[in-house]
Amino acid sequence: MCGIVGYIGQQDAKEILLKGLEKLEYRGYDSAGIAVLNESGAHVFKEKGRIAILRETVDESVQAPVGIGHTRWATHGEPSRVNAHPHQSTSARFTLVHNGVIENYSQLIREHLQGVTLKSDTDTEVIVQLIEKKVDTGLTVEEAFRGTLAELKGSYAIALLDEQNKDVIYVGKNKSPLLVGLGDNFNVVASDAMAMLQVTDQYVELMDKEMVLVSKQEVTIKNLQGEVMERAPYTAELDASDIEKGTYPHYMLKEIDEQPLVIRRLVQKYQDDNGTLTIEQDILDAMNDADRIYIVAAGTSYHAGLVGKQLIEKVASIPVEVHVASEFSYNMPILSKNPLFIFISQSGETADSRSVLVQVKELGYKALTITNVPGSTLSREADYTLLLHAGPEIAVASTKAYTAQIAVLAILAAVTAESRGLTVEFDLVKELGIVANSMETLVDAKEEMEQIAREYLSTTRNCFFIGRAVDYYVGLEGSLKLKEISYIQAEGFAGGELKHGTIALIEKGTPVIALATVEHVNLSIRGNVKEVAARGANPCVIALKGLEEEDDRYVLPEVHPALTPLVSVVPLQLISYYAALHRGCDVDKPRNLAKSVTVE
Ligand code: M6R
Repeated sequence: MCGIVGYIGQQDAKEILLKGLEKLEYRGYDSAGIAVLNESGAHVFKEKGRIAILRETVDESVQAPVGIGHTRWATHGEPSRVNAHPHQSTSARFTLVHNGVIENYSQLIREHLQGVTLKSDTDTEVIVQLIEKKVDTGLTVEEAFRGTLAELKGSYAIALLDEQNKDVIYVGKNKSPLLVGLGDNFNVVASDAMAMLQVTDQYVELMDKEMVLVSKQEVTIKNLQGEVMERAPYTAELDASDIEKGTYPHYMLKEIDEQPLVIRRLVQKYQDDNGTLTIEQDILDAMNDADRIYIVAAGTSYHAGLVGKQLIEKVASIPVEVHVASEFSYNMPILSKNPLFIFISQSGETADSRSVLVQVKELGYKALTITNVPGSTLSREADYTLLLHAGPEIAVASTKAYTAQIAVLAILAAVTAESRGLTVEFDLVKELGIVANSMETLVDAKEEMEQIAREYLSTTRNCFFIGRAVDYYVGLEGSLKLKEISYIQAEGFAGGELKHGTIALIEKGTPVIALATVEHVNLSIRGNVKEVAARGANPCVIALKGLEEEDDRYVLPEVHPALTPLVSVVPLQLISYYAALHRGCDVDKPRNLAKSVTVE
């Protein structure tokens, strides 16, 4: 969702900004723009649509050593050139980009901007106009910037240029992610280290309600009272090749293929020198002190949480509730006496989850974040973090993060169980090794998966996923994958619920993908398959080896029963991928979606 970049130094800023924006494309956007500043003033280039379109409009003859850039994912005002960032103040002295949502923008217009003609429908323009208004009353730009930030309610990451001072970029942050990158005689600004990895791996984190003066030689962080804050930089441990597609046509396919490697890497990362799986003692204490665990997450991470509930309850014997983050904030359940919250988030930046985290911290409860991004907001603000070690996930559709989340939850469940003196009845290191090998087999079955997608999904307008027990949860994930990238209306159902309503939707030829990996419900799910087939559906059964029947469409390699979601999801990811491809969809950047959902 929206991304920001900035550069101040000695080189021409345009290409650095455009390359940076390209690296942020994965977050999702509908328009893009850059502004650069030189002796002749600010030059703004912005367009609706892809960065490739923006590139064509940028005037190559304009050279400038300072600039800011933005990808926009529309919230206030339709995607259009006018609403794209950067936005300028009335006199065009100030130019600004913003990521986030200003909740009190109408009030700010009413109270401070009567008589100002706003050019766009965005909440962002209000910020730049307000800064100019304050400067007109005699404040310095820094005072006006700080004063404006203090009046904003909501989330923001902001970068501002002042035509009258080419030596500084003013930066501010609250809730939305923003980093400052350090270089030799230059400095940069980015929503995400990946954007500027091309020029530096040294970054400084910004806290909420801080502002920064970024010049080419200095970075000065201040709080909104103007006091200077000291902050040590850190090295972003990202490999530039991790964020390239290599020979793959899409990131999604690359990330699906990486899953065996991610599982093997995770096992290594969580093993001690003796090869025993281990988790920090503080986390184990928090797990053991809890009388109930509340997992809070969104989308795919929520689906991983559902699988995690089963693992933690069965293996570690601690009761677990799983909640959709966007509902939890407004509809908090009655909590147990000693709850522990687990936030699952690939990006660590999801605003819905973060708002719950803020609430539970205010209530004084402990929180653990399971995330792929070290230093992300949810990681920083929780008491503890467990990392996914999945490497950057660029495709909007989450794949390797989902399986890594389940693997980490399995490790957490097993290590907690042992710390409680419970016997874990399987060797998780060995079983995860078997899972990784099975995943290899599955990712090698691309032709078969492409054929299934062609056969069942090339012309259909809808598709159902059914399963029982943990297969139901994996079906939910399969249906999310399919709908988000192929735009086929897809729904996941518990097999037993079909007869309570959904079966009315079954028509001749409706594809029904059924998972059969759970022994004690195998007969029941087979019954459901028969029910839909009798009504004309076109069932596609994916069964675990040992539970298969004659007409099953695909048989999964055998893995331990507690870990079946790690393998059963892989065909669903691949089938979705090929269905989207056959339909000519933009697999990595599906319409209307963003990778990192930083607004509530
Ligand atoms: O970064 P997060 O895991 O917190 O993101 C949560 C959801 O936005 C995300 O899983 C989304 O559902 C994916 N597009 C699904 O593929």
